[in-house]
Amino acid sequence: DTSVLLLALFGVGGYLLGAVPFGLVMARLFGLGDLRKIGSGNIGATNVLRTGNKLAAFLTLVLDAGKGGIAVLIARALAGEDAAQIAGGAAFLGHLFPVYLGFKGGKGVATFLGTLLALAWPVGIAACATWAAVAAALRYSSLSALAAAALAPIWAIVLNRAEVVLLTAVLAVLIFIRHHANIRRLLAGTEPRIGRKTG
Ligand code: G3P
Repeated sequence: DTSVLLLALFGVGGYLLGAVPFGLVMARLFGLGDLRKIGSGNIGATNVLRTGNKLAAFLTLVLDAGKGGIAVLIARALAGEDAAQIAGGAAFLGHLFPVYLGFKGGKGVATFLGTLLALAWPVGIAACATWAAVAAALRYSSLSALAAAALAPIWAIVLNRAEVVLLTAVLAVLIFIRHHANIRRLLAGTEPRIGRKTG
């Protein structure tokens, strides 16, 4: 069936785009070293910020979010809403399990937010606002991400975007699983606040 094949193609394309580890690329470009040996060892913007380079961290955030958003927008333009969801979900999985890094990837927060902004922007804005509100109040990136992920399916219902409830719920579960070490540190009171060097 050609439509199934086409959807699979958008899945592969989204995955290969999502697998590009912009945090590692930025850290290397800015001469900050191997991000996997810094701070939490994670490849995301939060960990780039631990090097003290705010521009590299900001670019990582924008590019990791952007790759999810672009995957969605290209797929939607070429093949519609189902393809958009598949490409966005695949980009997220690419970030978590990148073929270029032996499938050892990141935690998916920026890519989740970028994907959601492109799929259903009101839900994306609400998720970003949730992240920002928790970050402003408590200064934990991981806790902000967990709150944004957990509330995203609820925002989807409240904002009448039922079509993204399932996808946001599945991605939220994956985000929680990827943050298991952060959750342990949060409970132990040892999670570093945003911008601190250790973690
Ligand atoms: O975006 C990932 C963030 O929620 C936690 O990152 O480096 O503190 O484990 P990190």
